[in-house]
Amino acid sequence: MQFIYNSLMNQKIYIETYGCQMNVADSETVMAILKSKDFFAEQNIENADVIILNTCSVRENAEQRIWNRLDFLKGLKKRNKKIKIGIIGCMAQRISEKLLEHEAVDFVAGPDSYRFLVDLINEADLHTKVSNTNFDINETYSGIESIKENKNKISCFVSITRGCNNFCTYCIVPYTRGRERSRSLEDILHEINILKSLNYKEITLLGQNVNSYLYSTSNQDINFPKLICKVAETLPDLRIRFTTSHPKDISNDLIYAIAETPNICNHIHLPVQSGSNKILDLMNRKYTHELYLERIEKIKTIIPNCGLSTDMFCGFSNESEQDFLESLNLLKTVEFDSAFLFKYSVREGTYAAKNFIDDVPEELKMERLNEMIKLQTSISLKKNTEKIGENFDVLVEGFSKRSENDMFGRTEHNNVVVFPKNNCKIGTIVKTKIIEATSATLLGKVVIDK
Ligand code: 5AD
Ligand code: SF4
Repeated sequence: MQFIYNSLMNQKIYIETYGCQMNVADSETVMAILKSKDFFAEQNIENADVIILNTCSVRENAEQRIWNRLDFLKGLKKRNKKIKIGIIGCMAQRISEKLLEHEAVDFVAGPDSYRFLVDLINEADLHTKVSNTNFDINETYSGIESIKENKNKISCFVSITRGCNNFCTYCIVPYTRGRERSRSLEDILHEINILKSLNYKEITLLGQNVNSYLYSTSNQDINFPKLICKVAETLPDLRIRFTTSHPKDISNDLIYAIAETPNICNHIHLPVQSGSNKILDLMNRKYTHELYLERIEKIKTIIPNCGLSTDMFCGFSNESEQDFLESLNLLKTVEFDSAFLFKYSVREGTYAAKNFIDDVPEELKMERLNEMIKLQTSISLKKNTEKIGENFDVLVEGFSKRSENDMFGRTEHNNVVVFPKNNCKIGTIVKTKIIEATSATLLGKVVIDK
């Protein structure tokens, strides 16, 4: 066994990440685990010894992308038989056996099994396909210092909870990521101090439902508002963000903490999913449309100009024309700066898949989705246009995709601003005046403080 391990040392590893920000953070954890065992990160897929796809199962099309990718990788493997291909993440957990049947796949690991990846890679070398999809309720990857490999080295994610206990009826996440658990305060502070020493400028605290963060010791209970204040205090020069909040759990304490702490960004992502109480109940979201709007009002009152975004999807089981209109009305009432909009996709194994009929025809789902997108695009444009003439501090993240002469960054409200580069440096905060707006972007110019 030792001999096999030695023969596999110094392998080049290439990871592709799909889906949510949680997967981005997990890929970094995986890279840290593998690097500690003498693997090396490789940016070019053609040069890799091991290719890992970190997958998402939230919607059917996310999984379809992986099947398409695997068909491509099959060709790569024909040319180089030594390449090993592994699937990790939610899809790995959900359908490990089906994945192992694919010609290209050598190993599969679920979200709680990443400490065993080296063993899996080694065993897969014996021409055997292997998998580990065990859940471990205690696994928070404590002690693993993620190696942040993101391109700009300006902002990064720090996961604070794993898993989810909410069981929204449409959602696969509780089944793929298991029960919710919180990382220890010490572990989180250790990681953010490393990020500080690496000169990061912004961190985003991540969890499926950050508001249920709870870390208890014999003499204290650290909840999410306490945690975020502690993080903000430890990193006074960094911008602190967080995602995702569940509307039923977002507390006044958190809203006040955001308002009162200068380096916690004034932006809240608060997924609403639907505007209809009937649908919210069928989704098991545990709040009503009225309660959601009350939380939004509270946020708007306590944090004026708070950036607001949401997730919403149409076409859930039983969604009538009236239910859908209530979703459109909610978008109109709140006027989110931006929204991630989807159509319902049945996920096998969920409560909805077992108990409800997927009764909104595909064409109607598509029609409704387009209507939601059209409405939200006009709202985003209106919100952005209102910002013309205002000044915003922008954390410079990089060069604009469209022109080398322009740079881009974000306001604390999470609006993207593009502006002529004007000797600005990546990682600095510059003041910009907004001169033009589209639904997705603000165009600005740098304002020099006199
Ligand atoms: N179908 C469509 N959208 C879904 N989401 C989660 N599950 C589904 C599903 N089965 C959306 C929700 C969630 C976001 C991450 O993905 O809006 O907030
Ligand atoms: Fe899924 Fe609901 Fe948990 Fe979000 S809160 S991950 S939508 S079950």
